[in-house]
Amino acid sequence: MTTNELNLKDANPLLQFLALLRDHELEISGMVAASYESVVRRWDRTVARFALDQMLEDASARIPKGGRVLDAGCGTGLRIPEIRSVFQPQSITGIDTSIAMLDRARENISNAFFTDGDILCLPFESETFDAVVATWVMETLADPRRAVEECLRVLKSGGILAYSFVNLPGHFKPGDHFHPSALHVVDEATREQELLGANRIDFGDSEFALIKRHQKGLITTVILGKCCNVEPYMLPLTKL
Ligand SMILES: C[S@@+](CC[C@H](N)C(=O)[O-])C[C@H]1O[C@@H](n2cnc3c(N)ncnc32)[C@H](O)[C@@H]1O
Repeated sequence: MTTNELNLKDANPLLQFLALLRDHELEISGMVAASYESVVRRWDRTVARFALDQMLEDASARIPKGGRVLDAGCGTGLRIPEIRSVFQPQSITGIDTSIAMLDRARENISNAFFTDGDILCLPFESETFDAVVATWVMETLADPRRAVEECLRVLKSGGILAYSFVNLPGHFKPGDHFHPSALHVVDEATREQELLGANRIDFGDSEFALIKRHQKGLITTVILGKCCNVEPYMLPLTKL
């Protein structure tokens, strides 16, 4: 068994949760919100830590400290301590559609402002934030492009949007064994990476964009400047 296979086995509960969020109008209960934290910590430890650390560092290098940061789809607020330590923001706001997740976020985190709202229609003026972060949210949405565009709208000129997603197979259902269905998507993502030529892509015609693929394309991290066009390869493959 390879290291990657082991990682994927460990990752299964989070992938199932992401599939539930995407395929159903799921009202997240307090119990689910509480158990989410242990699942996501395991996911971080086994699969995602390196990708998340790199994404936050790459993003923080491009914005001044002391700005306003939005965690879009903040869940239980688990990202906020690391966002704080890397960005050293003046203020941090978390937004999520789930009241249960937000309740936990308020318990977990002090000195942050939490509000319920939809990433597809953010209740903020344009050009409000210096940085927007969205981890494991885009792949749960039927229209991730709209979410990315909405995050760019609330970004100040010169600001940075940083997001991570899993290329969740379109036909993946909770209870499925992840491995067989994932492999196809990983293959697709790897081919795409070859097409783009490198792990790192700087776009000459836009302000700034950086896309990195990790774990053979299972995880993608994207950093966009405000003026970027949203291209298909910046979005999760939700359908095969
Ligand atoms: C897998 S969790 C990720 C939570 C957190 N970002 C993290 O890294 O642990 C996905 C979160 O996105 C939220 N979410 C789903 N659809 C959303 C939407 N349309 N607008 C805002 N949040 C949404 C869910 O309620 C859930 O808390």
